[in-house]
Amino acid sequence: MPCLLDVHADEARSLARMADDIQRGLTGSPRMLPPKYFYDEAGSELFERITQLPEYYLTRAEESILRDVADDVMGGLRPRDIVELGPGSCRKVRWLFDALEDAENVRYVAVDVGRDSLVQAVTALADEYPWLHVHAVVGDFERHLACLPLAVGRRLALFLGSTIGNFDPIPRRALLAQIRRLLGADGRLLLGVDLVKDRDELNAAYDDPAGVTAEFNRNILRVVNRTVDADFAPEKWRHHAFYNVAASRIEMHLLATEPQRVILRKLGVKLDFDTGDGIWTENSYKFTRESVEAMLAEAGLALEQWYTDAERRFGLVLARPVESA
Ligand code: AVJ
Repeated sequence: MPCLLDVHADEARSLARMADDIQRGLTGSPRMLPPKYFYDEAGSELFERITQLPEYYLTRAEESILRDVADDVMGGLRPRDIVELGPGSCRKVRWLFDALEDAENVRYVAVDVGRDSLVQAVTALADEYPWLHVHAVVGDFERHLACLPLAVGRRLALFLGSTIGNFDPIPRRALLAQIRRLLGADGRLLLGVDLVKDRDELNAAYDDPAGVTAEFNRNILRVVNRTVDADFAPEKWRHHAFYNVAASRIEMHLLATEPQRVILRKLGVKLDFDTGDGIWTENSYKFTRESVEAMLAEAGLALEQWYTDAERRFGLVLARPVESA
């Protein structure tokens, strides 16, 4: 089956937007960088290594749930149109395809920002599932959901991996409301959420002794250097990650280990940092069944099924649109 490719975020435009985000993030207070910019080629490889760390349970826990519930979910729904936001390597969706009974007419729409990695991932997928109609969309799912192809039948949207955890409550609600609009009346959302748990376990997952997460965090400075011709010295920054109990989120920051001046040449910006000054690079929110129900309700969605792994570390949620919202 041929693959279709839509490009909504061409290279030049996404670089301009990225430079803009960097300027706003680093000149504001507190200084911050959007976590979506972790994932250049090196960052994606580092994240892949994170998913294999003994402390980082999220990916394994989610896959164990997917393996266990795929038949149940797919048998009950029989979707014709599967849309995945941020599929990365398209590894997890294979559990769902394998559980499809009547696969012939199924279309898979994959939305991701990196053109080359997306094409590579869907090409491998199309080789493996020759019956699948694959439609790859290069875009930012915060901006381009309205440009997705119309559903060809009952739609299942996938938002896995706890990516939702990267969004603060207000943009999160806006994104979920957008996703709801994708679903139509009989569609469903399958959402992966990391769960609130013992703080030591959470802290360990985001500050591994091997230092892979630290390297992943610092890599965003290399992304900034390349994008706006800046001169951050990543070795002068320390990884700092901790669970903020009151806000139910892991926060990741980079802290300057010595005073320094950084020049962002393309932006004509100079930044001065003292020892201990920080750049906030990520929030990773943790949920409970109750907080998931509340967040879904705010976006016109309702929880239909709640699945967890045996250790109750991770949640997989099947949600449906609430009528008339
Ligand atoms: C890809 C957003 C799910 O929040 O756990 C891993 C990214 N950051 N280690 C997460 C991440 C630090 C990850 N998500």
